[in-house]
Amino acid sequence: MTAPKEIVRLDVNGDAQEVGAPGHFTLLETLRYVLGLTGTKQGCDKGDCGACTVIVDGVPTLSCITPVQEAVGCRVVTVEGLATALGPHPLQDEFDLNGAAQCGFCTPGILCSAVALLERNPAPSRESIREALAGNLCRCTGYSKIYDAVEAAAARLNGASAGGQGDQP
Ligand code: FES
Ligand code: FES
Repeated sequence: MTAPKEIVRLDVNGDAQEVGAPGHFTLLETLRYVLGLTGTKQGCDKGDCGACTVIVDGVPTLSCITPVQEAVGCRVVTVEGLATALGPHPLQDEFDLNGAAQCGFCTPGILCSAVALLERNPAPSRESIREALAGNLCRCTGYSKIYDAVEAAAARLNGASAGGQGDQP
């Protein structure tokens, strides 16, 4: 027997909509299996790996341990919402240019964590980047290229050449 669905109002990637989802669903399950937004990955499914990270009201959020009801009334951004009509988000571009993705499984979650970081701290230090991404595990890259890509995107977003910018609180 299938679980009864409840109607929840969600704002996902700027699209406010009513969604029918079983009441026990997490935000991750709703994104992937109801809305078809499979860019957000299902890794450990228990809050340990960061693969399912999305941005909820500007905060990186583990969607696998977030009941969908908690996202009602919030602005949810997934990896599908990062690019614009003008092209990929600068972070996506820099991940490509810096070879910061290999298998790519961790990449959507890391991009979301990094977008949220640059929104609250446009010129983060290497240490701040490392801290902000500490909950996003990557088994492939060794992380250096990911940090390089975030620094390059920050420099691009600031309209400055890479380097020479101090950390912001
Ligand atoms: Fe959510 Fe691993 S899938 S933290
Ligand atoms: Fe494979 Fe990060 S690129 S897990």
